[in-house]
Amino acid sequence: MNDKYIAIYRRFRPETFDRILGQEHVVRVLRNQIAENSVGHAYLFSGTRGTGKTTMARLLAKGVNCLSDGERPCGVCEHCTAIKNGVFVDVVEVDAASNNGVDNVRELRESVVYPPSVGRKKVFIIDEVHMFSKGAFNALLKTLEEPPEHVVFVLATTEPNKLPATILSRCLRFDFKRVGADAIIKGMRDICDEMGIRADDDALALLASNADGSVRDGLSILEQCVSAGADVLTRDLVLEVLGSPGDQLLSVLTDEVATGKIAEALVRLDEILSSGKDEKRVIEEWIHYFHSALLIKFIKNPERILNRSTENIESMRKQSETLEVKFINDCIYKLSKLLNDARWSAHVRILLEMTIIEMGERASEK
Ligand SMILES: Nc1ncnc2c1ncn2[C@@H]1O[C@H](COP(=O)(O)OP(=O)(O)O)[C@@H](O)[C@H]1O
Ligand SMILES: [Mg+2]
Ligand SMILES: [Zn+2]
Repeated sequence: MNDKYIAIYRRFRPETFDRILGQEHVVRVLRNQIAENSVGHAYLFSGTRGTGKTTMARLLAKGVNCLSDGERPCGVCEHCTAIKNGVFVDVVEVDAASNNGVDNVRELRESVVYPPSVGRKKVFIIDEVHMFSKGAFNALLKTLEEPPEHVVFVLATTEPNKLPATILSRCLRFDFKRVGADAIIKGMRDICDEMGIRADDDALALLASNADGSVRDGLSILEQCVSAGADVLTRDLVLEVLGSPGDQLLSVLTDEVATGKIAEALVRLDEILSSGKDEKRVIEEWIHYFHSALLIKFIKNPERILNRSTENIESMRKQSETLEVKFINDCIYKLSKLLNDARWSAHVRILLEMTIIEMGERASEK
């Protein structure tokens, strides 16, 4: 990993409210409550991954313990710094995914009774709280029912529907929204400026549209571009980072299916899935791939419509010449139906394998 790669990840985690992108409804309330010392006892931060829940929980923890007389959190005082570095004794972060039992919560409840040792408030951040067992929720509920004055709980989850109503009703709830493309573009532009990277407008627009509301995804695309070693962020560079590895495998998979090599295709699918890709995502990307192949057959310069680089389109053009329109259409139908069925099925992979077999048999019948 090169230095810049690490730098982006560490340097741009917001330490103050004004660095948060979007989530204005949350920032406004928390800022006020911190300024007026009217912070509540229990918060629930819910919403999609990468939208700032953990970051905001830490800002709240800093805000109530910050030593500054001005805007809190200041991000630079002794307490803010200690919280940032994870060494502040009065802020406890629990990952509910790996500490989900009654015993974990019991331990927590024992520590809740003692007042903070250096800060003003003890803050317990429980991430992925939906992973708690039933017993753990019950134990937590007891504390939430009679919280000591000096304690603040922040629960964060991507799946609030899995929380018991008794817990929900005791929390001040904030839904974290997907961050708008404009805000993501602005955030990425600021980061590029600070790093001395020139970024083209259309590169950032493409990056933001692929981040799909998640700042974390946006940062991760930016990190990949930067670690590819470029000092200028161009649309083609973003396309390269976004497109190639997935397309490469999809291209081979498509060839195999189109030539009736079913066994090879099933092994290829296994290769794609074991790289950590989610089945539904693969189906979606494959539909897009066929869609691109279809358009490339009919349109001479489809770069803009397809968000693909010229190079990428040229290699797809060769393939699309070998595919019949009827075959492409048929595959799109099958995969779209599959995508729909996949929403209700726990066996998406099996359905996908069956679809591949059907597609491959159809191809070899001709
Ligand atoms: N709204 C946001 N504004 C600025 N940066 C954000 C925002 N949301 C996420 N990030 C960035 O993404 C990283 C992960 O965010 P995190 O707070 O862990 O998201 P979540 O807990 O919602 O999954 C953070 O380190 C931060 O740099
Ligand atoms: Mg988080
Ligand atoms: Zn501070």
